[in-house]
Amino acid sequence: MSLPPPAYNNDPISFAYPTVRKRWPTILEGAIADIAAHVAQTPAAKECGDHVTGKIRALLEDFKKDAALTPFSESEVDKFAYLKVYNDQLSQKQMTWLSAPWLFSECYLYQLMEVWFKETRELKTFDVFESLKNQTFKQSSFGVLELCKRYQTLGQQLAAESVDKETLKLLFVEFADISLWGNATDLSLLAGNVTLEDIKSVQGAEVRKKNEEKILVNDIEQAWLQVVSSSSSRIDFVLDNSGFELFADLCMALFVLDAGLVKNVVLHCKEIPWFVSDTMPKDFDALLEQLQDPSFFSDIHETEADKQSIDYLVSKLKSYVSSGQISTQHHPFWTSCQEFWALPQQADLYTELKKSDLVIFKGDLNYRKLTGDLDWDTTTPFSVAIQQLASLKLPILALRTCKADVVVGLPAGVNEKLIETYKEMGNEIGEHWKALGKWAVVSFCSGQQ
Ligand code: F6P
Ligand code: MG
Repeated sequence: MSLPPPAYNNDPISFAYPTVRKRWPTILEGAIADIAAHVAQTPAAKECGDHVTGKIRALLEDFKKDAALTPFSESEVDKFAYLKVYNDQLSQKQMTWLSAPWLFSECYLYQLMEVWFKETRELKTFDVFESLKNQTFKQSSFGVLELCKRYQTLGQQLAAESVDKETLKLLFVEFADISLWGNATDLSLLAGNVTLEDIKSVQGAEVRKKNEEKILVNDIEQAWLQVVSSSSSRIDFVLDNSGFELFADLCMALFVLDAGLVKNVVLHCKEIPWFVSDTMPKDFDALLEQLQDPSFFSDIHETEADKQSIDYLVSKLKSYVSSGQISTQHHPFWTSCQEFWALPQQADLYTELKKSDLVIFKGDLNYRKLTGDLDWDTTTPFSVAIQQLASLKLPILALRTCKADVVVGLPAGVNEKLIETYKEMGNEIGEHWKALGKWAVVSFCSGQQ
C-alpha cells in the first residue's frame, strides 16, 4: 500500500506552518530567557549558558534564512548512538527548516538543543523547560485539589463496599476521561493561542462533562473489555506532559490498581527535555514532592479537609511506588524521529511492552507518531493508520486531544462539517479545528489484525 505524504512545514493549510514560523521562535526565546535566569543564580554556568544561547540565536536566524538541517557530527553520533536515525533520514533527503516534514524537523529541533546542553561542562543535565513546567503545574492547584477529592471519595467507597462491574466500568470511563482531558493543553501550545485561563478551564469536572461531545471517536468500551477480559495484570502509559496531565494519568493509574483491575502500572518517560512539557523521570519524582509541599501548592493546603484529601492520594501513590506497582521506565526510542511502527526494531522495549495488557499512548505527539503524521483521509481506520503496530499483539489505546493535522477513524462527513463550523466561527483556515486541543479521539486497536 502506498502511504500518504507527511505534514510539511511549507504547507500553508497545515498547523506546521504557524508552528515553525511563530511558535518555535517563541519557545526558543523563552528558552533563552530561562537560561539567563538560571545562570544568574549559578554564575559558574555563565560561560556554558552563553555558549548555548549563541547557538539558539543562530538557529533563530537559520529559521529566517530557511537554512538546511545539518546532520549530527560523527563524534556526536559516537557519543549518542540514538542520533544515527536522524542522520540516516537527512542523508536520504535534503531538508530545510521551512519546508521539511513537520514531525521529523520538530524532533530534530529538540535533539539538537539537547546535544548543545550535553556538550557543555556545567549544563549537561540542565532541563531548560523545567521552571516553565513547574510554574504551570503550580497554577493548576484547584484542578489538582478537585481530583484529590474525587479520588478520596471514590477510594474510600472502593475500600468499603464491593462494587459491581457496571459501576467499575463507569469509573474506568471517567478516569480515562480525566486522563484524556489532562492532555487538552500543553506548554508548547502556550506559545501560540492558548492561555493559562484555558488550561485552568479544561481541568474542571463540569467542563470535562461538557467536552464529552467533543470526543469524535470513542473506543473506550473496547479498551474496558480488553482490561476485564484478559486476566489483565499490567497497564502501561507512554506518557506525555508532566504536571497536571501526569497527575491526571496517575489518578487513572491509582483507580485501576485500587479497583484490582491490574497489579502493575508502568509509566514510560522521555529521556531528554522534549516538546517543552513532556515527562522525564525526574519530573515524576518532582511531582510527588510538589504534591506534599504546602509551599508549592500554598492555596490548596488551607483547610484540614483539603489537606486530608491531598494526603490521602499522596500516601496511596507513595505506597504503590514503594511496592513497585507503579514504576517508571525510559527509552531513547520515545525521543526518536521514527514512527512507532519501528517498535519491533527495539527488541528490548518491544519485549517489555509485550508484558502489558494495554498500552495507553497519551497525547498529541504520541498520536502523530502512531499514525506517522501522514495526511491520511480522516475516515481511514485507526488500525490502518498505525500500520504494522496493528498486528504486533500489543493492545493499544490512544487518548489524544487534537493539536496537529492528522486525525483518523472519523465517521464520513465529520471533518468537512468541522472545517465549515470553524470557518463560520471567523477563522481563516477551517482545517485548523484539528489543532486547537478542543476536540479529542479515543482510539483502540487490539493488535490482532
Ligand atoms: O501543535 C502543538 C504541538 O507543539 C505539536 O507539535 C505537538 O504534537 C504537540 O504540541 C505536543 O502536544 P502533546 O503534548 O499533546 O503531545
Ligand atoms: Mg507533550
